[in-house]
Amino acid sequence: MITINENYLKLQASYLFSDIARRVNAFQKENPDKNIIRLGIGDVTHGLPPACIAAFHKAVDEMAVDATFRGYGPEQGYSFLREAIALHDFQSRGADIHADEIFVSDGAKCDTGNIQELFAQNIQVAIPDPVYPVYLDTNVMAGRTGNFVEGRYQGLVYLDSTRDNNFVPDLPREKVDLIYLCFPNNPTGSTISREGLKRWVDYARENRALILFDAAYEAFIRDESLPKSIFEIEGAREVAIEFRSLSKNAGFTGTRCAYTVVPKECRAFDTQGTPHLIHPLWNRRHCTKFNGVSYPVQRAAEAVYSDIGKAQITELVDGYMTNAALIRTAMTELGYDCVGGDNAPYIWIDAKGGSWEFFDMLLNKTGVVCTPGAGFGRCGEGYIRLSAFNSRANVERAMQRIKKSLA
Ligand code: MLT
Repeated sequence: MITINENYLKLQASYLFSDIARRVNAFQKENPDKNIIRLGIGDVTHGLPPACIAAFHKAVDEMAVDATFRGYGPEQGYSFLREAIALHDFQSRGADIHADEIFVSDGAKCDTGNIQELFAQNIQVAIPDPVYPVYLDTNVMAGRTGNFVEGRYQGLVYLDSTRDNNFVPDLPREKVDLIYLCFPNNPTGSTISREGLKRWVDYARENRALILFDAAYEAFIRDESLPKSIFEIEGAREVAIEFRSLSKNAGFTGTRCAYTVVPKECRAFDTQGTPHLIHPLWNRRHCTKFNGVSYPVQRAAEAVYSDIGKAQITELVDGYMTNAALIRTAMTELGYDCVGGDNAPYIWIDAKGGSWEFFDMLLNKTGVVCTPGAGFGRCGEGYIRLSAFNSRANVERAMQRIKKSLA
């Protein structure tokens, strides 16, 4: 008899963004003439930067000729890209990260979901609430939780992010082994200071824990005093893994390129308390289950780090941040309490009522799609998230409709 992994039966309905897409599609079917503006999922809308497109085209042409054709590449990524990443994203900011500590992949979603395979079943996992659902769901699938009771999975430590702590969770009172952090935060748009992040690094060192740091939105940081990488913090190399993505800064959501940084000193322990390096284990997993990102995509990604590429990306990110400011200003003027949008592309808004009710009301009255905060966890109930990823015209139109309906 074929039996299933019963942990999958514990999962809540469908993945949040699939659920929203289903509701929006049903609404569109019932209202075929209604123009829908999507400020829900954080999916970029502008074309790839011209520097990336030129590199992409050139690499595709290389693939057409035997002399320059490339078959399987190194699973970890080509050195031209890993070296560019190490130099521009880390060493230039004083973070001691080297090319051979970078694993190029097809997405931070996959990497943040897959990394937990390296760790034991009985570890204590700490997850923020609200949270990007992937961290939670992949631990449920792996069997590290009990059932879903009153809005939470048993067996996890939830790190509440609320108005009271400015949406930056406090250190756990109990001892935990694996900690998920995401800054700038998805969904709240909150950020963490250097001192705040240092407290987490110190906690991890003192408790022989590991931090999984999702920095997919670092490009949106405007405040120069904020850390962009956990590796800007002293002592992090032994206790942290960082996830980055080219999806949101360079528009690679459909093109797929991301990377994970596993420093050579980063460690986890066996049951005897003997330390083991994580780098060779992740390398082993990566080479066994992944065949690398395609050569043209890696060449396009490399172009992100050229002078012209950097300028084009700054323009893209600035454009989305202008949208974020428009959204935050409009919602604040309407009397809604907002966070985020200043160093992040997400604006987290107190809905003054149920999240899903606000979602339905907004869709029905204005045709604007938001993400209900409750979909990110119990602490998200009563909030909604608006994303700045859309054209200026659509964001302006959405805000006009919202002002008209909600004023
Ligand atoms: C989001 O809207 O939270 C993100 O787009 C999801 C993702 O990056 O996978």
